[in-house]
Amino acid sequence: MNEGKFLGETKILERLIASETIEDSYERWTDYRYQLTSLIEGLKEKTTDRLVLLGAGRCSDLDLKRLSKVYQEIILVDRDLEAMEEAIKRYETPMVKTYPLDFFKVTTKEYDELIKNLQEKNFSLVKEQLSNMKDVPKNNPLPEDIEGEVVVAVGLHSQLISRLVALFSLYQKQFSYEERQEIQNIFSELTTVAVSELHNWVTNQIGGFRTFLIGYEYAAFVGEQRAFMDKILEDYLQGVVHDLSRYGIFRVQGGVQAEEDIRKRVEKKQLFLRQWGMFSWEFLKEKQYLVTIMVLST
Ligand SMILES: C[S@@+](CC[C@H](N)C(=O)[O-])C[C@H]1O[C@@H](n2cnc3c(N)ncnc32)[C@H](O)[C@@H]1O
Repeated sequence: MNEGKFLGETKILERLIASETIEDSYERWTDYRYQLTSLIEGLKEKTTDRLVLLGAGRCSDLDLKRLSKVYQEIILVDRDLEAMEEAIKRYETPMVKTYPLDFFKVTTKEYDELIKNLQEKNFSLVKEQLSNMKDVPKNNPLPEDIEGEVVVAVGLHSQLISRLVALFSLYQKQFSYEERQEIQNIFSELTTVAVSELHNWVTNQIGGFRTFLIGYEYAAFVGEQRAFMDKILEDYLQGVVHDLSRYGIFRVQGGVQAEEDIRKRVEKKQLFLRQWGMFSWEFLKEKQYLVTIMVLST
């Protein structure tokens, strides 16, 4: 993959960011949006409840108009301000607030350095740089001025370090299988750190916090595998499935770490699991996700 050499570091990052926009998501996610929105509406307990939507993006998966009739205040949090502004325009909800924030803040300089190391096929530098990123959350503490009783993070956990993963995948062919595995392990560790910091922040620093709804991609199903996903959902609806691990499906990173982190918090009685469920998400025309939803409370 030499293309990068001719594009320059900044161009590569810009192109990567531009490719994050999912075409036709608003139309294709109609059913998913309806289900998620209904669930979130039901989490309101008091008329004064405020809602914080993490990874809100364009809100193609959440109907802001409906939610703004239920919650006293809504705040959208995402690193993509433009996307949140588009959401406010789409749903005609000018009172909804935005809060641009990156939960895993890698600087442009750091991205440029990584691209340079990747282009020079310098495995040890790539590995060292990525390993050092475990300190990213420590060096960028999350804010303490966000408030809300109900906090929602759906489809966010898998994306926290997605730009790093996408960058590496552009150049991965030049590395051996063992080297790629080493980097995958580092990504897994970085995700663990990012998820843990995110959950620490929600539980300790969001003022008034009471309820946390998380939704994460459990597994992806492509093409004909769709029938298998439908079978799992059917088993779930009939009450047959209590332990998804029995299906032995290939898991989505981010979801694995989210589940493990929540398991520990529930064990320590820091959070209580009130409800869990599964939805299908027509993410792309050719790719569906099985999404696990957990409603947790303090
Ligand atoms: C797959 S989208 C979820 C769907 C989104 N709610 C929508 O309807 O467009 C993930 C969202 O998380 C945001 N995100 C990913 N990583 C992030 C990070 N490190 N910090 C803040 N936001 C992030 C992205 O900008 C994107 O809007």
